[in-house]
Amino acid sequence: MEAFSQKSLLPVLLLFHCLMSYGLANKDTTTSHLQSDQSSLLVFKSKIIDPHNMLKNNWTTATSVCSWVGVTCDKNSSVIELDISDMELAGSIPPEIDNLPLLVSLNMANNNFTGSIPPTIFNNMSRLEFIHLDGNNLSGEIPKEIGHLTILRILSMESQNLTGPIPREIGNMTSLEQLQLTNNSLTSKFRPFQLFTNWFNLFFDVIIALEQV
Ligand SMILES: *[C@@H]1O[C@H](CO)[C@@H](O)[C@H](O)[C@H]1NC(C)=O
Ligand SMILES: *[C@@H]1O[C@H](CO)[C@@H](O)[C@H](O)[C@H]1NC(C)=O
Ligand SMILES: *[C@@H]1O[C@H](CO)[C@@H](O)[C@H](O)[C@H]1NC(C)=O
Ligand SMILES: *[C@@H]1O[C@H](CO)[C@@H](O)[C@H](O)[C@H]1NC(C)=O
Ligand SMILES: *[C@@H]1O[C@H](CO)[C@@H](O)[C@H](O)[C@H]1NC(C)=O
Ligand SMILES: *[C@@H]1O[C@H](CO)[C@@H](O)[C@H](O)[C@H]1NC(C)=O
Ligand SMILES: *[C@@H]1O[C@H](CO)[C@@H](O)[C@H](O)[C@H]1NC(C)=O
Ligand SMILES: *[C@@H]1O[C@H](CO)[C@@H](O)[C@H](O)[C@H]1NC(C)=O
Repeated sequence: MEAFSQKSLLPVLLLFHCLMSYGLANKDTTTSHLQSDQSSLLVFKSKIIDPHNMLKNNWTTATSVCSWVGVTCDKNSSVIELDISDMELAGSIPPEIDNLPLLVSLNMANNNFTGSIPPTIFNNMSRLEFIHLDGNNLSGEIPKEIGHLTILRILSMESQNLTGPIPREIGNMTSLEQLQLTNNSLTSKFRPFQLFTNWFNLFFDVIIALEQV
């Protein structure tokens, strides 16, 4: 009798243990995203020029990162959207922006950012579907690290001072629907069908955009 009840208790205890550590592990992950997203954005803020104080008194530790202007979070308080377009922000883009691992949409359009696009920016934001960097004053080449963004749907970088060849790694972005690169000084060694193995599934817009370069 005693042996029987001990045997039946063990799986129950194990299950309980698993549930407990699963719950705790999840809680830890969630908490650390909120905090690391917040500190990444605070570093970002400290490194850029914000002439009209759009972020100065709003992006502070006094309120949750999820209530900051331009920031949208998911239900777990992880940052999934950043829209800081049209704020006349200037300076170079700080690489710390790459530490928003659940970011889906990045919109920094129509500001005054200068310098090159930091290559690491695309390293660990593999959830990105939308990037708008158009209407800034960015220069240099499009980093080949952009090929890490395999589910990107919209890439908009027109009207600035980008130079050099379009990296062939762009062919990794097999979900592309819109590609806006006009009004730069870019070149392309490749035709769309050489870049994309699935080029026949590409949106016409992407093919036109590549042919225009
Ligand atoms: C929130 O976190 C839980 C546990 O990690 C996860 O199952 C769920 O999909 C997350 N929700 C969102 C909206 O990301
Ligand atoms: C920051 O801006 C958002 C959006 O405009 C606003 O809802 C929020 O109240 C502001 N927070 C502070 C502390 O000013
Ligand atoms: C961008 O910066 C330049 C030089 O600092 C300045 O003349 C121009 O007004 C700025 N443009 C915007 C939209 O902030
Ligand atoms: C993102 O990548 C940088 C290196 O590019 C690394 O230092 C950092 O720890 C990464 N962050 C996350 C959340 O993976
Ligand atoms: C772009 O940046 C260059 C310097 O890198 C500066 O001379 C020029 O005025 C800027 N253009 C605009 C429109 O801000
Ligand atoms: C292309 O995407 C795959 C994952 O789908 C990744 O392993 C590879 O590093 C990417 N290549 C480049 C050049 O970004
Ligand atoms: C091209 O880009 C420049 C800034 O680099 C901008 O001043 C100009 O309006 C853009 N032209 C068009 C046709 O979009
Ligand atoms: C583009 O870059 C070149 C060389 O760095 C510079 O002379 C030119 O003013 C820049 N154009 C714009 C619109 O910023």
